[in-house]
Amino acid sequence: MKEDDWRVLKIIEVSMRYYEWVPLPEIIKKTKLDKKEVLYRLKILDKFKLINRSSYGYRLSHKGYDALALNAFIKKGIITAIGGKLGVGKEGDVYNVLLSNNREAVLKFHNLGRTCFTRGKRYRSYLADKRHISWLYASRLTAEKEFEVLSDLFPIVKVPEPIEQNRHALIIGKMEGDELKRVDLNQLDIDINKLFWDIIDEVKKMYELGYIHGDLSEFNILIDEDGNFLIIDFPQAIKIKDENDIKLKLDKLPGEFKVNTEYYLKRDLENILRYFKKYGIKEKLDVVYKYVVGK
Ligand SMILES: Nc1ncnc2c1ncn2[C@@H]1O[C@H](COP(=O)(O)OP(=O)(O)O)[C@@H](O)[C@H]1O
Ligand SMILES: [Mg+2]
Repeated sequence: MKEDDWRVLKIIEVSMRYYEWVPLPEIIKKTKLDKKEVLYRLKILDKFKLINRSSYGYRLSHKGYDALALNAFIKKGIITAIGGKLGVGKEGDVYNVLLSNNREAVLKFHNLGRTCFTRGKRYRSYLADKRHISWLYASRLTAEKEFEVLSDLFPIVKVPEPIEQNRHALIIGKMEGDELKRVDLNQLDIDINKLFWDIIDEVKKMYELGYIHGDLSEFNILIDEDGNFLIIDFPQAIKIKDENDIKLKLDKLPGEFKVNTEYYLKRDLENILRYFKKYGIKEKLDVVYKYVVGK
């Protein structure tokens, strides 16, 4: 793609703040290119499926938004290559990438609205007071939030290193390992009881730094053959010191919008307890909860 193709794409991106479908005259006006040139560029963007078109005009596609973020990382000299998909997430895909220093890393896209958006909106309290948000805005907000949480936690808590963020995408450190869900701990040469308490200790550190994961389970913990682990996937993390603010702001909204840290922390711990039960760990939720909150 040529510089002018990117320019047209960026104009469409920016204009989506005001239009659901950006009219052709608007694109012509903002790019300062002539009509023939703009139509030619639009044809290229359409061929690559980076835009959608209707009789009203043009809009950015999810793929187009991905391309803009990816291009930004490349132009900034952060990444030099993109590899295979590591996973297809609930709300975005995760890829292997090569950083310019030859280190491998992970590129995670947040694509809200590709699946059912209302579901995503409900459990993400920080979006609750924003009405009429586009998937574009919501996806970027989610990536920004995940990056912010990782920046607050890394390297004190075992979470991926936050490397870079642009639009709805983030680049984070990579862990060579598998989801706890897909690993048989009995096949590893590790002390399972110690692993359990090591994970709880990370939850405790997170809590002391003011966060609750909010979606902790065997799907969001990666582990390698030596038993080293990493907690991932933070877009729904709950910032404890915001709890009262959120409660105030959301007081007039239905109960489901209210954030209850005890509820979310216990749910996280319950998931961990349930997973480790089959390995003979029989700790009580209340005991583990009190340990984490320091009572
Ligand atoms: N830092 C990482 N290192 C290695 N693999 C990762 C990393 N982050 C994510 N993955 C892989 O991608 C999958 C999806 O990522 P995750 O952050 O859990 O997003 P979501 O579950 O919301 O789609 C993970 O289950 C894991 O297999
Ligand atoms: Mg996950």
